Amino acid sequence: MLPLKSRLFFRSWSVVGQTCRSVFVAGASCQKSALKTSTQDIPEMPPCDFKPEEFKGMSKERMLEIRQQNCFPMTMKVTFYKKPVFIHQGHMQWLWDVDGKRYLDLFAGVATVSVGHSHPKVTAAAERQLKRLWHTTNIYVYPTLHEYCEKLASNLPEPLKVVYLTNSGSEANDLAVMLARLHTGNFDIITFRGSYHGGSPQSTGLVSNHSYKYPVASSLGCTNTMCPDVFRGIWGGSHCRDSPVQTIRECSCAQGHCMAKDQYISQLRETFATSVPSRIAAFFGEPIQGVGGAVQYPKNYLKEAFELVRERGGLCIADEVQTGFGRTGSHMWGFQSHGVIPDIVTMAKGIANGFPMGAIVTTPEIAASFNKAVHFNTFGGNPVASAIASSVLDTVKEDGLQKNSLDVGTHLMTELAKLRDKYEIIGDVRGKGLMIGVEMVKDKASRDPLSPEVMSEIFEDVKDMGVLIGKGGIYGQTFRIKPPMCVTMDDADFFVAVFNKAVHNCMERRVR
Ligand SMILES: Cc1ncc(COP(=O)(O)O)c(C=O)c1O
Repeated sequence: MLPLKSRLFFRSWSVVGQTCRSVFVAGASCQKSALKTSTQDIPEMPPCDFKPEEFKGMSKERMLEIRQQNCFPMTMKVTFYKKPVFIHQGHMQWLWDVDGKRYLDLFAGVATVSVGHSHPKVTAAAERQLKRLWHTTNIYVYPTLHEYCEKLASNLPEPLKVVYLTNSGSEANDLAVMLARLHTGNFDIITFRGSYHGGSPQSTGLVSNHSYKYPVASSLGCTNTMCPDVFRGIWGGSHCRDSPVQTIRECSCAQGHCMAKDQYISQLRETFATSVPSRIAAFFGEPIQGVGGAVQYPKNYLKEAFELVRERGGLCIADEVQTGFGRTGSHMWGFQSHGVIPDIVTMAKGIANGFPMGAIVTTPEIAASFNKAVHFNTFGGNPVASAIASSVLDTVKEDGLQKNSLDVGTHLMTELAKLRDKYEIIGDVRGKGLMIGVEMVKDKASRDPLSPEVMSEIFEDVKDMGVLIGKGGIYGQTFRIKPPMCVTMDDADFFVAVFNKAVHNCMERRVR
């Protein structure tokens, strides 16, 4: 592999009908003396052979008018950018806007486009199925659903062998809650603070992030416990997490012992002692918290938490909606690197590369508790969804995407950590594989979140230089990087150059 500097692209970046000159120099520092780089200099995007169609649809103004007049006003809140991005087409890790400008998509429609936009193999599988059969329900027996259930189950460890297909992650989590309650006869569910598990009335009860909470009753029987966040939380050190990059916090623990883990476990014990009955239905956790900002827990936390939950009659549910299908690099499923086997696993997003789908996988014994009535689901396991999901699983393997996530993700985090060491406002770089968070702070000593205004400036600048990333964290303080798993080392280097430039620009504005 070439060293970072020689692999960066420094000449120009192309937009259909427009080329911008660039003389950007790598390694610009945040020190005053080094803040001489012109804000016009832009790193060059890696090349791409794919030619998008010319956009001939409605004007941007008209689309925004419709969004304002005919769409729920709330959707304006999720329009991320001051100058919105109008997407026209996608190919693998690339997106083109209606003007033909190309973007490196490092957010993948929120960790959803797992194998690449309009991946040719998956698109061919979808086309084949569309020509054969669009829809029938599972009151009939058809091959695609069964092929997929068998294939998915073969990718999970014993005893997780029974699959129920849904339309979304929220639906999967809703049903997991119901299943846990039916199976245990208990009611209470524990989730982490800062977590996001969906937008349906039941799953918003599991959510612990004010932005997604409506003032309606939704949390009956749902209790949050302290998130064992080793960067922002009360405890944490430089050896706590399973990531190529550790926190900047110091650690005085003896080898093989993690004080932070013990403290966070004692918080969980306190939740059991104070906030729930002695028997509970379930504990819900993402292996790495997604919307919360790629938050990682101390090693062995989940293992001990699962033991405590099971002692109280509860089921352990892993929400793999973001972490599943190889994204974390070392394993197919995020829970595997915690050394635990959950009782129920929920999935969605990357499962079908953006086609609406979700799943619950559990044990035969737990699944049998669903027999107490009939649950009917018109679209769950739809033939087209099943064919696409099946092709996605094949593609993850055939294209070596889990390994690519590990390699590119590790490289990206290692390079981003160098920027963290350079800039006072980059507080933390963390994650596994291509599930990455970059937490921004006012300063490293306080770890106070960077203000939403400054976050937006950097975010907008990164987008204007041609890279789409996400934002998360309770205070919107963390940049989220969860690209299609086909991104390359050159893409990673390009992003590091862009991010360096955007943070540099931000520091320059602060100095002025
Ligand atoms: C971890 C997690 N669980 C569940 C969901 C809900 O999935 P969906 O939006 O498909 O309902 C999300 C969505 O962002 C998620 O990130």
